[in-house]
Amino acid sequence: MINSVGVVRKEAENCNCLQVFFVSGSFKVDSVEAKKKEENFRETLRDMANSKYEYVKSFELEDEVMLPNLMVVRIDGRDFSRFSQVHEFEKPNDETALNLMNSCSAAVLEEFPDIIFAYGYSDEYSFVFKKTSRFYQRRASSKVVSCASAEVLQAYLAWRQQDCHANNQYDTCFWMLVKSGKSVSETQEILKDTQKQQKNELLFQKFGINYKTLPELFRQGSCLFKKKVEETVKHDENGNPVKRLRRKAVFVHSENIAGRSFWNEQPSLYNDLGHFTKDIGKIEPDFIRSFQFENKLLPLTWVVVRIDGCHFHSGCSRGV
Ligand code: GTP
Ligand code: MG
Repeated sequence: MINSVGVVRKEAENCNCLQVFFVSGSFKVDSVEAKKKEENFRETLRDMANSKYEYVKSFELEDEVMLPNLMVVRIDGRDFSRFSQVHEFEKPNDETALNLMNSCSAAVLEEFPDIIFAYGYSDEYSFVFKKTSRFYQRRASSKVVSCASAEVLQAYLAWRQQDCHANNQYDTCFWMLVKSGKSVSETQEILKDTQKQQKNELLFQKFGINYKTLPELFRQGSCLFKKKVEETVKHDENGNPVKRLRRKAVFVHSENIAGRSFWNEQPSLYNDLGHFTKDIGKIEPDFIRSFQFENKLLPLTWVVVRIDGCHFHSGCSRGV
């Protein structure tokens, strides 16, 4: 009579309770029809309360990112390849579009004080919440990456920036070759299995491009966090500027956003997210797996399996 979580989940699916339960946080009332639906929904919940289905309440905890994990929400543009084609973006990087994305992210950072740091490139942005955040009761869908420590966050950021470096270098070579008259399949063949250094050589030899001199925005992505900056708020009667310190969202570019020298110099980052205690070389493959796969326990997380007897009380009273 062992009652595992898997078994409980299956029962709930069979009676459609799980689905009802998960929408409970975001039910909207915007029409008569919707009001009726909401009333039915509430009735279902009332029926479920004190019934044998009351246990589904415990599933609420399943999508909570437990303290002290750090929460990272990554947002990625859907079908952005098509979107960028339709809107005739510059290839491989459209500065105007990237700056627009950065401005939107700065607005998000200004709006939500719990977001301490953001990193983005191409069509994606990662938002890192402060350690103690209670935002949305720390409930999130499985798209959220939860990092068990600052060390794991460091690996996450290094992983995203490596992706930015690798993609941008490949795309730069790719579009230079295509623009020079090669077909897509010829280009893919040329670039197949090439290493970083070979791509740099190709750009330099064929097109006279020193990759390192391309804009940081393209090569490194953009970091966003709040910094104390001095701002002129007004001018006094003599016309002298009156300055105040204000925490303002600023963009910073860095070759290595997961490096100690970058991170530990910013009080707003290490105070709310923790220090990076050492520099990382190769990113732990286990960490990357945990970032990619959903519903997995993260490295550095203790795994405790509790087995609890089901209806044990009735078993005891029958003298078992
Ligand atoms: P899904 O995320 O799975 O929906 O696919 P996606 O089409 O959004 O592609 P993905 O997120 O894997 O990669 C982002 C894509 O956006 C790139 O492959 C490019 O095609 C496009 N993109 C992003 N930024 C730029 C840009 O500045 N210029 C151009 N031309 N394309 C861009
Ligand atoms: Mg995308």
